[in-house]
Amino acid sequence: MPGIRESSDGMNKSPSISEEEIQAWMVKIRAMRKYRQLDLPESLLRDVITAEFTRHSNSSEAFKAVREKLHNIIAPYLGDPNYPAAQAEMERAFSNENPNAVHQFCLSMLSSHASTRERIPLLNKFYPHLWQITGIPQTILDLACGMQPFALPWMELPPSTRYFAYDLHRPRVDLINQFFERSGFSDRAYHEDILVNPPQVEADVALFFKEAHRFEQRRRGACFPFFQALRVRWLLVSLPISSLKGTRNLEDRQRHLMQSILTGQTWQVEEICFENELVFCIHKS
Ligand SMILES: C[S@@+](CC[C@H](N)C(=O)[O-])C[C@H]1O[C@@H](n2cnc3c(N)ncnc32)[C@H](O)[C@@H]1O
Repeated sequence: MPGIRESSDGMNKSPSISEEEIQAWMVKIRAMRKYRQLDLPESLLRDVITAEFTRHSNSSEAFKAVREKLHNIIAPYLGDPNYPAAQAEMERAFSNENPNAVHQFCLSMLSSHASTRERIPLLNKFYPHLWQITGIPQTILDLACGMQPFALPWMELPPSTRYFAYDLHRPRVDLINQFFERSGFSDRAYHEDILVNPPQVEADVALFFKEAHRFEQRRRGACFPFFQALRVRWLLVSLPISSLKGTRNLEDRQRHLMQSILTGQTWQVEEICFENELVFCIHKS
């Protein structure tokens, strides 16, 4: 496999990686069983490979670090439905005359992923509580959306609302787009690395849920420029306040993280503390 190229004068120890080497590592990652079906965006792979091969002077250490970073970013341990089966289930739900069938399908999608599963007991109050602060949005960005678009039936939004979702997991994005189409919505989900390419759609509200701490793990200091780049009036950032096993209370740690991200900023921030999720409502303009 490709190795590291050092600068030719040998004085500068900072390693660099050639385009050919980046391409070869991308091919290797895409062929891994774990990622073969996911069609990970090139922008993501290029960013992580370049960062880790610049940080490490040994190529096997660099590749190990790339694999660890990707594992944390993609987070397969949070859960997935079987996508072809979910698509068939969705078709059956939309063909069923009982309108409850689509709600049941959405619930099963929400429960397939830990981030949305934890929110199910709160569904009836969660989104209305957010809109009490922001007002009912006309345009929403759902950033690093996971399965959250399947919570749309509980968001109580007018049919004219425009909803743009973003994720890097191709089967998830495709299923969400099929759901939008079957629902008759003109909304869209985009297959994109939003850290490399922050969405530039102007919106009333952006939801960035349970991902800010991971952005900081991927690249320390990543959140603040990302928040700045978004063209939204309200940025709602949430963090989980109980560990995945539910055994630890993370509330102080997460509040401290958000304070450190927003240090020196004058944006107004209001908090909503739900049972297992802390939402920071940042008024950007
Ligand atoms: C922890 S889950 C949160 C899902 C959702 N926001 C929620 O709270 O229900 C993280 C999701 O973000 C996606 N993701 C992580 N990094 C991303 C990035 N840079 N660009 C787009 N999506 C990303 C993952 O694929 C995964 O679906």
